[in-house]
Amino acid sequence: MKIKATIQNIADNTADLLIIGHFQDQQDNVLVSALGDDLAAQFKQRLNNKDFSGKNGESLTLYTGQGQQVMILGLGNNDKLNQTALYELNHKATAAAAKTRCNKVANYLLNDTFSNIASDQAAKLIVLASSHGEYRYEDTKNYKADNKHSLKSLSVFADEALHDTVKQASAMAEGVTAARHLGNNPPNIANPKYIAKFAEDIAEKYDNVDLDVLNHKQMKKMGMGALLAVGQGSHNKPKMVVLKYSGAKSEQAPIALVGKGITFDTGGISLKPGLNMDEMKYDMCGAASVIGAFVAVAEMQLPINLLTIVPAVENMPDGKAYRPGDVVTSYSGKTIEVLNTDAEGRMILCDALTYAQEFKPEVILDLATLTGACVVALGHQASAVMTKTDGLAQEVIEAGLQVHDRAWELPLWDEYQKQIDTSFADMQNIGGFPAGTITAGCFLSRFTEGQKWAHIDIAGTAWNNKKEGATGRPVAMLTQYLINQAG
Ligand code: BES
Ligand code: MN
Ligand code: ZN
Repeated sequence: MKIKATIQNIADNTADLLIIGHFQDQQDNVLVSALGDDLAAQFKQRLNNKDFSGKNGESLTLYTGQGQQVMILGLGNNDKLNQTALYELNHKATAAAAKTRCNKVANYLLNDTFSNIASDQAAKLIVLASSHGEYRYEDTKNYKADNKHSLKSLSVFADEALHDTVKQASAMAEGVTAARHLGNNPPNIANPKYIAKFAEDIAEKYDNVDLDVLNHKQMKKMGMGALLAVGQGSHNKPKMVVLKYSGAKSEQAPIALVGKGITFDTGGISLKPGLNMDEMKYDMCGAASVIGAFVAVAEMQLPINLLTIVPAVENMPDGKAYRPGDVVTSYSGKTIEVLNTDAEGRMILCDALTYAQEFKPEVILDLATLTGACVVALGHQASAVMTKTDGLAQEVIEAGLQVHDRAWELPLWDEYQKQIDTSFADMQNIGGFPAGTITAGCFLSRFTEGQKWAHIDIAGTAWNNKKEGATGRPVAMLTQYLINQAG
């Protein structure tokens, strides 16, 4: 759903649900008052009765004489309201609104000024959180008629000066939604072919988008031995999906985003345990996030050239599957000893990274649900950034802070490299227990020498519990990074 900015006076707004904020112990509320004396009197009564005080997390719903719902959200103390709190508040309110029979929701939270959050940042957060709360996965569910999502339009009150920001954030939110859609769909549907088809639809929608899909035969001819080894145990054949967006002069080097697209990760012959294996449908969330960022950029027609490359592969155990001990030759020519078929992400990424460099990109970011160790290190709050390019981690982290989609740097020091040395090939595909996230990054670094590049492990941030599923992270961070590069 597109979220629109509005400058409409609240009293003139015909939305059937109005969301407004109220700080703790604030006496008057100008928005409530603007909605009429009746509502103001009701509100005063509720404050006096201590039904509502504006504490963070509280919510009070009143009705105007015209039957409009007014959802008043407690914002707590202005000094304590941080980005997370503002995001959570909006997310919860919009999710609640989406459960009602309302068609039209208008959010007036930006009528307030926040002590700790700049207004453009607040605008972005409100749009992203509203879209997040509105999203509902329905693709493989039969809803009873009365449970259908009835929300049709969402608008955010904002000063004229913030309208471009709202527009941008709305495009970002569309990208997030696309990523969540891809991530949440089951592995029997969202297979390599499905991802290619999804990209095809994007290419059809925008005049300045082109698509190239390499099939397994072409990749075999090219010598992408690492990627193909991972895919050889599956009936769903691998594909390399290449989306190109031209928003700047053709001489301008593109920025490349490469996303791990393991549509299901069983571990292969190094089979994963059964418990929670279903969650490995999310192992294509790196792909989902780079496609999501691509959608956002195309939607906002950013003046950059963007290349999004997705190796889409399924990792299955089979009579034809690759095995521990195999030595394969990557597209770069470097040989890899496979010591664990479950360390498959780096195997497909190394070939995709080598391929990406043929387009002479200014910089490459790769995104991957690469290691369980990343969840141990940073939990579900931050994505991990690793790079050998000066300043690049800072740029990525800063972009994340701008949209509350945070990342944290881990070192890629040379001293870690020896953990992936072996006597039987140029490298092995695992580095042992210590620093598992970093040694995966070291592996990839061997395929990006001389290239500005950063690796971002999103194993902890791309999805959470079964109920919410794919988060769409870090589409917002990536898109903000690209916006910053364009500016
Ligand atoms: N897709 C997984 C990483 C993963 C696991 C992400 C659990 C989120 C939750 C990846 O392909 C994998 O299996 N990695 C192995 C690497 C190991 C064999 C060196 C891991 O993390 O256990
Ligand atoms: Mn794996
Ligand atoms: Zn994996």
